Amino acid sequence: MTEVWEYYRLELVAVEDQIRQNLGSKVALVNTVAAHILNSGGKRIRPLLLILCARLAGYAGRDDVLLASLIEYIHTATLLHDDVVDHAEFRRGRRTAGGLWGNQVAILVGDYLYSKAICHIVGFRDQDVNECLSEACRKMAEGELMQLSYKDDASISEREYLKVVAYKTGSLIAAACRIGAVVADADPAFRDALFQFGQAIGVAFQVADDTLDYAAPRESLGKSQGNDLGEGNVTLPLLHLRRHCTDAERLRLAEVMEKKPNGNGELAWVVSLMERYGSIGYAMATARGFVRTAKVHLDLFEDSVHKRALQVVADYMVSRDH
Ligand code: IPE
Ligand code: IPE
Ligand code: MG
Ligand code: MG
Repeated sequence: MTEVWEYYRLELVAVEDQIRQNLGSKVALVNTVAAHILNSGGKRIRPLLLILCARLAGYAGRDDVLLASLIEYIHTATLLHDDVVDHAEFRRGRRTAGGLWGNQVAILVGDYLYSKAICHIVGFRDQDVNECLSEACRKMAEGELMQLSYKDDASISEREYLKVVAYKTGSLIAAACRIGAVVADADPAFRDALFQFGQAIGVAFQVADDTLDYAAPRESLGKSQGNDLGEGNVTLPLLHLRRHCTDAERLRLAEVMEKKPNGNGELAWVVSLMERYGSIGYAMATARGFVRTAKVHLDLFEDSVHKRALQVVADYMVSRDH
């Protein structure tokens, strides 16, 4: 993955420049808060994917850089909103915007970034881009709402969980990949293949993220950890654990969830059960399965350095420890 970042370094530097150039608001608070989150070192995985997909589909122009920066605006907006919804204290190693300036500010700056992205996107006058991104935004909101409505409900099925994940995370990553093909003016089959590729690696990414919420070493992610249990968000490792533990353990688990654990003791108990029953391993294996499915969609494309890079990124989606 280090080689991939290095190979596309110039494009990614150009994305950073775009992100900064387009920010400008006359309202100082907007600039301060947006800069706080945008300059805090996100991985820029969606911009990278958009550029890689554009290159894979034969594009050599510059529009992909601007679109990549706009995708990052939308992603950043969802993080601002998500941290309010999740009562999160840390993001990218810093205090969250809501923690520093209050939730009203975090929500409104999120709205500003969404709107700013849309103002630029409509300038492309491309119906495929418009439809693809507006649908992604709708699904992200629906995904977060579905998750809210399932709160504390440990009886949801794996299928329901995966739908939440596909909507809240898969949809924007799928859109980023498809838009790469759209700027390259690729045929519909190529657009669809990259959309499906993005959707599957997006699901893999969120499933891995949900697993790391339990399994990652403390403080390594730069964001609030163990949050899902405390927030009553039922994710794949917990679903697996509930299916495999004893009745007594399941009862105790329900109690722990009801009490909204904040202390590390209960979280550590849940994590140790997950390790004992193989729930962490199961969830990571599921994530890797989605990566395998994703890669099949690349078969349509001839071998190239860009295709190889996309395969590496696909693996990276489930192998990160940050
Ligand atoms: C965080 O996304 C939200 C999820 C979908 C798991 P990223 O992990 O891409 O966040 P940054 O942009 O690198 O901080
Ligand atoms: C991902 O959900 C957020 C969005 C896709 C909007 P999470 O709540 O699991 O993400 P983190 O863990 O806060 O980054
Ligand atoms: Mg969150
Ligand atoms: Mg969330």
